[in-house]
Amino acid sequence: MCCGVGHFRTPGRNGQAGDVMNILILGGGGREHALAWAVMQNPRCGRLIVAPGNAGISDIAECAALDTENGDAVTEFAVANAIDFVIIGPEAPLAAGVADRLRAAGILCFGPSAAAARLEASKAFTKEICDASGAPTAAWARFSDATAAKAYIRAHGAPIVVKADGLAAGKGVIVAMDEAQALQAVDDMFGGSFGSAGAEVVIEEFMEGEEASFFVLCDGENVLPIGTAQDHKRVGEGDTGPNTGGMGAYSPAPVMTDEVSERALQEIILPTVAEMARRGTPYQGVLYAGFMIRNGKPRLVEYNVRFGDPECQVLMMRLGAQALDLLLACARQELEKARVNWADDHALTVVMAAKGYPGPYEKGSRIAGLENCPEDSRHMVFHAGTSLKDGRLVASGGRVLNVTARGNSLREAQQRAYEMIDHIDWPEGFYRRDIGWRAL
Ligand code: AMP
Ligand code: GLY
Repeated sequence: MCCGVGHFRTPGRNGQAGDVMNILILGGGGREHALAWAVMQNPRCGRLIVAPGNAGISDIAECAALDTENGDAVTEFAVANAIDFVIIGPEAPLAAGVADRLRAAGILCFGPSAAAARLEASKAFTKEICDASGAPTAAWARFSDATAAKAYIRAHGAPIVVKADGLAAGKGVIVAMDEAQALQAVDDMFGGSFGSAGAEVVIEEFMEGEEASFFVLCDGENVLPIGTAQDHKRVGEGDTGPNTGGMGAYSPAPVMTDEVSERALQEIILPTVAEMARRGTPYQGVLYAGFMIRNGKPRLVEYNVRFGDPECQVLMMRLGAQALDLLLACARQELEKARVNWADDHALTVVMAAKGYPGPYEKGSRIAGLENCPEDSRHMVFHAGTSLKDGRLVASGGRVLNVTARGNSLREAQQRAYEMIDHIDWPEGFYRRDIGWRAL
């Protein structure tokens, strides 16, 4: 499973094929721990630095303090440390143009330009791209004032979906089941509850169906699918309670059959990539498409311009070391020659979060017992929000650990993940006991 596809020819100035490379990963969550874990298993990975990283990442890589949204600072750091390849984890540095700045300096980089990152940074932009390329998605309209937005809601009725146009840390979407809630969302957004992200509002038709995520690498022209996943956004068991960044995920997503994946590629992904190229802003990096699937037909819910968190953890657990070869092929615009070495396996991750999350929670509680969890190609605890205090592991975020396992079936992966959790001693934390239920 963990063998590379390794047939690259073009040696840029960023190292010959087969060379050992110095790699910098930007970010410090579970996604970046999983990326670092996969990348460092590849013999091409020499020195690995993660900025800012976290306590778990510091076990396997160097961590460095760095202003990751400042392109000049990142470029100076990369030059000073003879970095050959930069992998950008979160959306904020991408939207801030860090990839553009690195490429301008001749540094090989995984992640889209700021112009292409608008596919996540502006909901209205994504809808325009869908309209221009004929990709199926919910009917929509954009508004910059509350009166017109409310008139639209009254004309269309509920259920209806109200979205802040800009980046709102996953919180800018209100799926309103009644009209009053939709009208309130409009007032909140124009009232500034999402800051500048809510200066413009997109209102959408409510789509019914089953949601799934599809991850493809794009090198501007070519597209390579690298996996499907489903996550659990709600905090409570049975998918109840407030939305979170994700309480668990598994891969593959049963609803993403070969037929649905092929339709999604032909009808949504390829037309999007072609439209981005036609506009002179080719998409380069991972494109994370969220679909609503009904009767075998996918429609686009949203794009993200980065790996999902915690979806990345299950994708990396399945891809292993070949992930680095794939990210390199993407950054070098050689995807047409890359192949994924698929295994017939499943992975599942359970998020352990601090009690109170997604509301207010305490930081600094001690976590013990991780040394009793197996760590191998089938078991890994990725750290999302941890730090070291007097040499001891403490929680430093809302989502704290991603307990991840691989198996021959989803059931086996699920069993392994929950067995690992039994070893973890963290009374101030909680987790959902039903991750994967929909697929099982
Ligand atoms: P987004 O940030 O766009 O992914 O939206 C967050 C969540 O809101 C999605 O994962 C869906 O569950 C839901 N959602 C967004 N847009 C729609 C829509 N048009 N119809 C139904 N649900 C939606
Ligand atoms: N888990 C959802 C996201 O990364 O956006």
